[in-house]
Amino acid sequence: MGLPIGIFDSGLGGLTVVRAIRRRLPNESVVYFGDTARVPYGIKSGDTIIRFAAEDCEFLGRYDPKFIIVACNTASAVALPSLSRRFRQPILGVIEPGARAAAEVCGDRPIGILGTEATISSGAYRRAIERRIPGATVIERACPLLVPLVEEGRRPDDPLVRLAVAEYLAPLQAADVGSVVLGCTHYPLLKEAFADVLGPDVALVDSAEAVADEVAYLLSSYRMLESSGDAVQRFFVSDNPDRFRDVGRRFLGEDLAHVTLVSQDEFLKAPKRMPAHAATRSAADRLEETL
Ligand code: DGL
Repeated sequence: MGLPIGIFDSGLGGLTVVRAIRRRLPNESVVYFGDTARVPYGIKSGDTIIRFAAEDCEFLGRYDPKFIIVACNTASAVALPSLSRRFRQPILGVIEPGARAAAEVCGDRPIGILGTEATISSGAYRRAIERRIPGATVIERACPLLVPLVEEGRRPDDPLVRLAVAEYLAPLQAADVGSVVLGCTHYPLLKEAFADVLGPDVALVDSAEAVADEVAYLLSSYRMLESSGDAVQRFFVSDNPDRFRDVGRRFLGEDLAHVTLVSQDEFLKAPKRMPAHAATRSAADRLEETL
């Protein structure tokens, strides 16, 4: 088994990223941390999100990942610059890949961004799109009801989901958006509801798929792809592994093996500096320059 890809999220939503990675890169091992004790991040302050995200990275560092994906849109939007400065491992967030995909498929029309309150108020997606398309019209909308609806098991055809989605999408429809970023780990599970309201000529960008494409490209460019088929997935959570296993199945699309509860003591015991595996160090350095 080669070095794993580290992935973290505020809870179980990041399993949509694990799912996309597994589909694209089945030989890659994954070590996942879900901060289920402190979820949600989407309504917390910037300082708190940055602190939590740094602790999550430190925890993953114990497993010597070849690099780390910040699956959580909120943590990517708010904490990525600080994480990249602080840790030696290359760290990839979901904002840039999602923004790039949305800019490519918007067809010169405005771009819509959906996300948590913290993601939207950070303006990170807007800035990433404006770097690609100067002067682009970007319509942003926080959708705080959608995370709890998904976690409760509501499906895209549920009347409550329909109502909330129609309300949140109204300003995007009015602006005649050409693409919409589903900028939250949970929204891909409601994709059909968004598609029904927006119609077939609006492209939906799943940030989980976009980051998986980017990871595949980077690993292959730097010859860091695993070739053997002995990949393993390990999942760590800071609270309630049973709920993570039950609800997480819907996000991952399969049963979760190896879910381990990390006690708070154990979590905070993580080394303050992440080890870097010597064999991947130079490839990782080059990868970092690309990011
Ligand atoms: N994972 C978060 C995101 O993608 C959603 C849940 C939360 O608020 O923590 O923004």
